[in-house]
Amino acid sequence: MIKVKDGVFFLETDKTSYIFKLTDKGHPEHIYYGSRVTCADIEALRMKNTIMLGSSVDYAPDTPAYSLDNILLEYSGIGKGDYRHTPIEIIMPDGSFVTDFVYSGYSLADTAYECDGLPTAYGKAQTLIVDYKDKKYDGIVLKSIYTVFEECNVICRACELENNSEGDVIIRKLMSFMLDIPASPFDMITFDGTWAREAHLHRRAVEAGILVNDSTTGSSSNRHNPGFLLAARDADEERGIVYGFNLVYSGNHYSAVEKGPFGTVRVMSGINPHCFLWKLKRGEKFSTPEAVITLGECGYNSVMENMHAFVNEHIVRGKYKNAERPVVLNNWEAHFFNFNRRKLHSLAGKAQKLGVEMFVLDDGWFGARESDRAGLGDWQVNTKKLPGGITALAKKINKMGMKFGLWFEPECVNEDSNLFRAHPDWIIKVPGREGSVGRNQYVLDLTKAEVQDYIVDSLDKVLSSANIEYVKWDYNRHISDAYSNTLKNQGEFYHRYIMGLYSVLERIFFQKHPNVLFESCSSGGNRFDLGMLCYSPQIWTSDNTDPIERLDIQGGIYCLYPQSAVSAHVSMSPHQQTLRPTPLSTRFNVAAFGVLGYELDFGELTPHERREIKEQIAFYKKHRRTFQYGKLNFVKSEKTNQILWQIKGDDEIFAGIYQRHQTSCPERDILRVPLCDAYKEYLVESVKQYLRIGRFGSLIKHITPVALRADGFIVRVADRHFAMTDGKEFYKCSGRALRAGIGLAMQYAGTGYHEKLRILGDFGSNIYHIKEIKGE
Ligand code: GLA
Repeated sequence: MIKVKDGVFFLETDKTSYIFKLTDKGHPEHIYYGSRVTCADIEALRMKNTIMLGSSVDYAPDTPAYSLDNILLEYSGIGKGDYRHTPIEIIMPDGSFVTDFVYSGYSLADTAYECDGLPTAYGKAQTLIVDYKDKKYDGIVLKSIYTVFEECNVICRACELENNSEGDVIIRKLMSFMLDIPASPFDMITFDGTWAREAHLHRRAVEAGILVNDSTTGSSSNRHNPGFLLAARDADEERGIVYGFNLVYSGNHYSAVEKGPFGTVRVMSGINPHCFLWKLKRGEKFSTPEAVITLGECGYNSVMENMHAFVNEHIVRGKYKNAERPVVLNNWEAHFFNFNRRKLHSLAGKAQKLGVEMFVLDDGWFGARESDRAGLGDWQVNTKKLPGGITALAKKINKMGMKFGLWFEPECVNEDSNLFRAHPDWIIKVPGREGSVGRNQYVLDLTKAEVQDYIVDSLDKVLSSANIEYVKWDYNRHISDAYSNTLKNQGEFYHRYIMGLYSVLERIFFQKHPNVLFESCSSGGNRFDLGMLCYSPQIWTSDNTDPIERLDIQGGIYCLYPQSAVSAHVSMSPHQQTLRPTPLSTRFNVAAFGVLGYELDFGELTPHERREIKEQIAFYKKHRRTFQYGKLNFVKSEKTNQILWQIKGDDEIFAGIYQRHQTSCPERDILRVPLCDAYKEYLVESVKQYLRIGRFGSLIKHITPVALRADGFIVRVADRHFAMTDGKEFYKCSGRALRAGIGLAMQYAGTGYHEKLRILGDFGSNIYHIKEIKGE
């Protein structure tokens, strides 16, 4: 709900209030953002400014004690006394950087904000647009936009700059929002990494100065996700005030958190000013991407709850919104480029028997693509590998009872390709300079209409030629040599690239093929952002499928994005990138907290492993809605070697315990489930999983009637066909007991085997199924 009265703007969500007020000079003073309060509190909440301080600058000769440096503001400019980091840096028609935007009006609408050329959140919402005119050039108008999504406690913000003055305006920086917060010790939490190590949580103290989180790679990047948190110093997973911020944008982003001289904290986000320069001629308008803001008092969990609901309800759209996502088998790690029709049929046959619903053919099916050195850009099927083409393959897969999906990387091209030979001028490169390559490929210039048309037409042709129900859209490098001969001003390049991409995605996935499930990928999670999620309901989270690495990667991503967006596959052990051996149960237990898939050759598994996978898939399908759409919580672990994830569905909860390294004679484990309802009764049961006999090494001889050698024939054969059921636990208790924490069975400690022991070892895990007992 948005209320406007006497210069006070009062924005309310289910659990939060956001208030600002116009000063008598027409500047928007930020009053409050936090748990709900009423208008009666405004005067008390306001920061008091009664005296001028030392070297501070008065706004005007007749305004003593009115210094913009001292006031919490909603947006601020340059040159009128506010010396904190600025969200707007524009060159005005008079050549100066000085701006002074003062209030000129507002409008309210009962809809979400829409923006030409950029995706925005949609659905039930209210939008407030506040107009500010520059005091010298009243034709230059800054519009500050607030969209309130009440139920998920999210406020989106964006800006538009309109130039109706006589001269040109040059934008060097225009942030989507600025938020000033009164003093409090905060930490900034960012999600950083690189390829195969995305989204690791880093927490830094906000001290005097500026902390920046940004990307200059051309996309939102695997280095620094655009989303971040601001947590009160004592806040953790479960407790304390935490703010969450994100951008609906897939390009170069920039966020800064500054602790100012008077202890207040300024936050802003938007397009990265790095290499950005935009000329706004008379009559033109520039719109920023939309920023997303939320806040909660129950630690990271409250931001997660709000952001997850927001993404599922107001970002993801189309047929797959709130829909259960299929279990896929992706053939990449099974074959890489080395496959033919026979191999695919054989893998698909096994996948179908195990319960896979979607068979996905990854890279290597087109042009002369035998390695990553050639063929990219030529979207014609390689009929040597696939006689009968994609049409016949899709038919065959459908006949087996599965859906069919296909990989593309439409934004890039190999030099050794027909596309490059025909259009060498379509790549991004500066004339007179040699272009740099990434994974042997160039990026196509998506600012060009003919490149956009080529991508739309070639994908449309393939997608129309067969029953393709899923597309994995990859993008495997960062941009270098940024330049386009379509642009007079190269400062527009990066942003126009992203607008070109959005336009292509819109044409393919909304206009031509709205029934296709689109999974976005960029060398894994190099473009895991809200902009892409507006088109692709799920994203390939990381090329790294090692479950222990995924604890950090998925754990970081969950802080901002729901499980329904997190594509997670079970792959081979030892893992291809880390060489770490992990139990099949742990690989499943981690992937199940997302959109489950498999990425391995089922033919390389033992018969028992295949049986195990069949059970995993059946179990996942039964509880898929809870895993993909349930309310996810982190539980703070008392043990540094354990991670605790829990998910609550309609009448069931899953609690995952994941152990990194085993400690000898481990401390006892308690299962604490804050998501339980204190006044309900529950059945707690460990989810069935297996232990490979081979895991016990030479200990095996102590538990078998005849002494067997660990590397002997009998043990090897037994290991292929049988496994031990992991310790079964079963408890019946109240929600009060579970909220306090119940004692779990002891972990194996080397002094004997008992069927009630939990055998985790290095990288072991358990999932507990906690089911409400109805009617008691
Ligand atoms: C990227 C993707 C992988 C796979 C390969 C194919 O690395 O992230 O999942 O699709 O490309 O070349």
